[in-house]
Amino acid sequence: MNKTSIALIGFMASGKTTIGKALADYLGSEYKFIETDQIIIEDVGKSIPEIFAEEGEDKFREYEMFACKKASRLNRVIVSCGGGVVLNNVNIENLKKNCYIVLLQATVEEIYERALQDDLESRPLLNKLNPKVEIKKILNFRKPFYEKSADIIVDTTQKDYVSITQEILKKLNFI
Ligand code: S3P
Repeated sequence: MNKTSIALIGFMASGKTTIGKALADYLGSEYKFIETDQIIIEDVGKSIPEIFAEEGEDKFREYEMFACKKASRLNRVIVSCGGGVVLNNVNIENLKKNCYIVLLQATVEEIYERALQDDLESRPLLNKLNPKVEIKKILNFRKPFYEKSADIIVDTTQKDYVSITQEILKKLNFI
């Protein structure tokens, strides 16, 4: 049977939330947009920066694993995944049970600009002295994890969200 859900992966500020909401809107009321970070915030009762500051990244990754497991049980959802879910293969194995995995690729420059717009404080891993250097370093390390996890890869450079959404749905044979 065809999978009914889509999980968006990619670096922080690569457009997962915007594209995820647009996909869910396009697919209609049967579809729901969810975020692994939001599941964690609701489960733990703290913001992401609070979890990092008070409990550390390892504990955050544990919460993230449970969030991916929860998300993977749902049909007809568009899941925006935290940028680090690819670091644990168990997350990807779980998500793949019900979801096609779509990688949104963006350049360091675009990620940096978008992260600045969102505000850096919401992302503890980028809330550093030189965010651009951090982005380059982390992206370099994670690139192979993103690429091997993806069923399809979509380059978002200089494309608007409508054409990205259409590209994803066509590549996955949803339309
Ligand atoms: C992280 C990405 C964040 C959030 C946390 C860690 C990462 O989510 O899960 O700050 O390791 O890349 P977004 O990708 O939605 O910003």
